[in-house]
Amino acid sequence: MEAVIKLSQKSQKIDPSPIRAMAGKASKLDDVVSFAIGEPDFTTPPNIVNACIEALKRGETHYAPNKGIELLRRAVSDFYAKRGLSYDPEEEVIVTNGGLEALLLGMSATLDPGDEVIISNPYWSNHREQIKYLDAIPVEVPVYEKDGFAFDPENLKQAITAKTRMIVLNYPSNPTGGVASKEVLTAIAELAIEHDLVILSDDVYECFCYDGEPFSIASLPGMKERTIICNSFSKSYAMTGWRVGFACAHEPVMKMMVKLQEDIVSCIHTPSQFAAAEALNGTREYLDEMIARYTARRRLLVDGLNRIDGISCIEPAGAFYAFANITGTGLSSVDFAERLLDSKHVVVVPGSGFGSAGEGFIRLSYATSEEAIEEGLARMQAFVKEI
Ligand SMILES: Cc1ncc(COP(=O)(O)O)c(C=O)c1O
Repeated sequence: MEAVIKLSQKSQKIDPSPIRAMAGKASKLDDVVSFAIGEPDFTTPPNIVNACIEALKRGETHYAPNKGIELLRRAVSDFYAKRGLSYDPEEEVIVTNGGLEALLLGMSATLDPGDEVIISNPYWSNHREQIKYLDAIPVEVPVYEKDGFAFDPENLKQAITAKTRMIVLNYPSNPTGGVASKEVLTAIAELAIEHDLVILSDDVYECFCYDGEPFSIASLPGMKERTIICNSFSKSYAMTGWRVGFACAHEPVMKMMVKLQEDIVSCIHTPSQFAAAEALNGTREYLDEMIARYTARRRLLVDGLNRIDGISCIEPAGAFYAFANITGTGLSSVDFAERLLDSKHVVVVPGSGFGSAGEGFIRLSYATSEEAIEEGLARMQAFVKEI
């Protein structure tokens, strides 16, 4: 339909998410098994829900400070202190509208039009679109299955130009589940220092590192000053609908982020901030339970995929995504996903939706029940036999 009002060039430049597109198609079908959406199937733990109810009962229904309530900023600061990272809760922490707003604020505070920002390919499309939204230029550096989908620092180095301003890191990664080793992060830190670059570290899946503790690039010498950490309660505490995230950055950058917050959303939903503080200050019992479930589901899904002829899948080190190689089936990733949806009502996201280097792969989210994973694998097996 033609718009009566002229639409901005900027809004027309932004591409829609491939994930929502597949889910949209599936919503018109019955008996669907979905591996599409990266959203925990768990509901928010009860202690967190109760903290919100209590806050509401106490009358915590007013605007919060732009940077967030003190209780939550302190909890964030303590969370990093336990990992040897020091962030002043007054000057270096902000509460945001989910991880997404943390990313947007971090980019808005540091990027000018024409600045180049390195992202991986496959990428999470929102990183790319946010960069375009700010009239900066996403520069895609391919990452490979053989490297566990982490950046190869040599390739990263080749992509750096005089205009490069930022590198976006996302480990564990959406869409690949990849995690970068400490060695790779150290090499990236050296490049960042040598070329005076900002690191935007999207850590929203950091609670889900299955093969070791998460490691932050900000903890390397000289890196706190040039790293913006973006994090969220959405995935770790099954709080996608609450819209609470946070960012940590060196004071001068954080000052700008807090200033911009006023003009974007002013502040975050106040009762949700009390809930988020409980997530960090309260029991870890529910988080540990969810991690155990994801660990078991990863096993179930990856083993099941590797049993299907024509499909192979490396062990994703983190998040709740498997990025499976389907080149053995002879189908493109879009053909595979569309035919699987049409014939078996199973939703996966074609890897090409995450960039050219995603061709030959499909992304499967295992934030879904064990029964759904088993049923989806059985249908996929039947589908591959038929093609
Ligand atoms: C890599 C990555 N970063 C950030 C986000 C945004 O998280 P939130 O829902 O907290 O805005 C997501 C959500 O899917 C994600 O996958």
